[in-house]
Amino acid sequence: MYHKQLDDFPKDFLWGASSAAYQIEGAAREDGKGPSIWDKYAHQAGNTFKGTTGDIAVDHYHRYKEDIKLMAKQGLKAYRFSVSWSRILPDGEGKVNQAGVNFYHHLIKELRKNEIEPVLTMYHWDLPLALQEKYQGWESKKTIAAFVNYAKLLFKEFGSEVKYWVTINEQNVFTSMGYRWGTHPPKKQNVKAMFLADHYVNLANALATIEFHQMVPTGKIGPSFGYGPVYPKTNNPEDVLAALNADDFNNNWWLDVYCRGKYPFFTKKQLENLGLMPEVTKKEQAILENPQAHPDFLGINYYHGGTVQENRLQKPAAKNKEKQFNQVDPYLMQPKGDQVKNPEVPMFNSVENDYVDKTKWGWEIDPTGLRIALRQVYEKYQLPIMITENGLGAKDIVQDGKVNDQYRINYLADHIMAMKEAISDRVDLIGYCAWSFTDLLSWLNGYSKRYGFVYIDQDDTQNGTLKRIPKKSYSWYQQIILTNGNKLSLLKHGE
Ligand code: BG6
Repeated sequence: MYHKQLDDFPKDFLWGASSAAYQIEGAAREDGKGPSIWDKYAHQAGNTFKGTTGDIAVDHYHRYKEDIKLMAKQGLKAYRFSVSWSRILPDGEGKVNQAGVNFYHHLIKELRKNEIEPVLTMYHWDLPLALQEKYQGWESKKTIAAFVNYAKLLFKEFGSEVKYWVTINEQNVFTSMGYRWGTHPPKKQNVKAMFLADHYVNLANALATIEFHQMVPTGKIGPSFGYGPVYPKTNNPEDVLAALNADDFNNNWWLDVYCRGKYPFFTKKQLENLGLMPEVTKKEQAILENPQAHPDFLGINYYHGGTVQENRLQKPAAKNKEKQFNQVDPYLMQPKGDQVKNPEVPMFNSVENDYVDKTKWGWEIDPTGLRIALRQVYEKYQLPIMITENGLGAKDIVQDGKVNDQYRINYLADHIMAMKEAISDRVDLIGYCAWSFTDLLSWLNGYSKRYGFVYIDQDDTQNGTLKRIPKKSYSWYQQIILTNGNKLSLLKHGE
């Protein structure tokens, strides 16, 4: 689509920023919080970058007022955060920890006081450890029941205070990392278990959404999905077919279930042939297909897409020269080098995209991919979309007390421009929560890879003053919000 003039962002557009409990809160053992799978995993040698843990993180638990003050000063309209399940239910089920519940009441109250719309994520990967140890986590139906009870508790406590709810963050990423590559807890390399866990998370998501629609009729709920458009390497029909396959495996496999209650039939047949498809009972199918189980909006986390070529058995990808600590690309379901760990995915083969730049961590920088993503998702599911994550991970440096992150401004400006174009195309986009508000602990990159508008003096040995320093991008985003994203000069690259 071409537009002589681009449309304005909607008047009530939610300009926001995001975070996740484990990555910011700290206070890992305070006020009755129970351990999560990440609290254990990060303490086991060799699992995380330089052994970094979320014990202190950026101490948001104690400094949330200071952080919200900075949000208000920046003019944020929305703030996406996650609730730590084991902070409010230390064993994942059973006894409620009132101090934990109170923390989130205070946080939400403070946000409301500052006219910031809370966007509450119910699950951002930190499963209560007790559920993993008692039931094997997402491989058990008991965890589905525990999640639904947890959800009901959240709806009862916060249903009248929070309008926008995210059920599950990036199911596609945490199940792949946890069960395929073994780089996140529960550190398994078992694709059969992964597909089972996926099915159970789908049921948990559907059942919680049904409860929500009864308990919080005025609210809006949906999952946040890590979406990447898939490009064929060439116009060789085999490459085009490979891209169709990859899209079905990497995107439809989850989104079709969330929005239509049906597993896409091409991938399903492939998994059935390989004996990897979990059993879906009639009762479960009915739950997934219940219209009340479907989202009111879709959260899309966008970092990059991917390129594929024909069948990897015929054309294996070149081996990766440099093996990085976090060598797996979670958004492509394929490692960048060795591709032997997905026996069920011989139908496509990830390759480099020669047309886009990359970050230092090899993530493609592809703002047009965001416009494509928005178009594809909106056309398919016709639901309002909120970008719940998007941002640039970089090594930021403080010089003379300042952080000049012009590279981040350029990145964000291009992505905001892509959103403006998508809105002009006719996509119903309701908000943008950049990743992240403050710097935070990267699951596998410690503090070497930062995303925030606000720098935090914290290092990989947890020896920082925790001082907050707004970066150059903080003031730039303040202007974006002030002008509702419509001042085009702010979307141009600067020095
Ligand atoms: C998303 C997650 O996948 O990517 C976030 O939802 C995460 O929790 C973000 O921090 C960036 O990932 P990384 O590995 O660059 O820190």
